[in-house]
Amino acid sequence: MPEKIAVVTGANKGLGFAIVKGLCKEFKGPVYLTSRDAERGNKACNELQKQGYNPKYHQLDVTNEKSISTFCSFFRSQNKKIDLLINNAGVLFLNDSKEPKASQAEQTLLVNFFALVNFTEAILPLVNENGSILNITSSSGHLSRIPSEELRKKFIDPNLNLEQLTVLMESYLESVKLNRDVADGWGDSPYVVSKVGVNAYTFMLNRQLSDQGILVNCFHPGYVMSDMTRGAGSVTPEKAAEGALECALQPAGGGLYVWHNGAIVEWDGPDPRGFIDGKSV
Ligand SMILES: NC(=O)c1ccc[n+]([C@@H]2O[C@H](COP(=O)([O-])OP(=O)(O)OC[C@H]3O[C@@H](n4cnc5c(N)ncnc54)[C@H](OP(=O)(O)O)[C@@H]3O)[C@@H](O)[C@H]2O)c1
Repeated sequence: MPEKIAVVTGANKGLGFAIVKGLCKEFKGPVYLTSRDAERGNKACNELQKQGYNPKYHQLDVTNEKSISTFCSFFRSQNKKIDLLINNAGVLFLNDSKEPKASQAEQTLLVNFFALVNFTEAILPLVNENGSILNITSSSGHLSRIPSEELRKKFIDPNLNLEQLTVLMESYLESVKLNRDVADGWGDSPYVVSKVGVNAYTFMLNRQLSDQGILVNCFHPGYVMSDMTRGAGSVTPEKAAEGALECALQPAGGGLYVWHNGAIVEWDGPDPRGFIDGKSV
């Protein structure tokens, strides 16, 4: 029996790093720590080795076609298949960012949505039957975060295909360029739109892959102390990784939106932040 392989994107630090560490303990087979910057990635691997773990390393910038194709060729050339893919790489512009809104929106959607989709589609032929994919999303990916009912209907349409979803996400970028994002019902957060797109893709892909036994889920890790939040947050990356690992290694099914406390949240239900995170929404 060939050994099982796990791959984690954006794993040189933060949640991705903690997920790799957890997988090194719990996953039966090689675990690939990947990063866009090879130096940062190798440093992270060395750190884990010092702690007694043995991750493998491969460079992977999910926004870069060449990097994606090198990564896929590496597995293809060795006849290796992937059993667990965790799409963790992500970016967030905090409220005090000076970057123009259109640029924030472009970069956020590029990394969090378009690159995630592009990489996943490229690697899909190398994902084993009965394998699983976990997309790291956010509470921001809840459908209720999109104010327009018309847009929400488009996202939740069970017949929505990838081409239509891509057009929908591109139309958001057009709205932002025209300074019409709020007026057009998208709300004012590129991060929200990027993660709503990730969730829509998760459920679509799960439907598409169900006959191959591949389960696709998305996980909201909570408010994690990482560089993304400048160290703010209510949970360490290690603690957040525990929930992600449970969801990745013992998924309760496919097409699920799982939150940090293990709750399976209805994507198009009421905003759960109030009753799960105790926030007034
Ligand atoms: N922190 C939170 O409170 C929170 C809450 C909900 C969801 N999340 C999600 O959790 C995931 C991990 O976030 P985090 O808090 O661990 O953030 P983080 O510490 O900033 O880590 C983000 C990781 O993504 C990598 N990355 C960015 N662009 C990439 C690209 N083009 N290709 C490959 N890797 C790339 C970063 O690499 P570099 O080091 O090279 O930049 C880094 O390794 C993200 O998807 C985030 O949206 C976080």
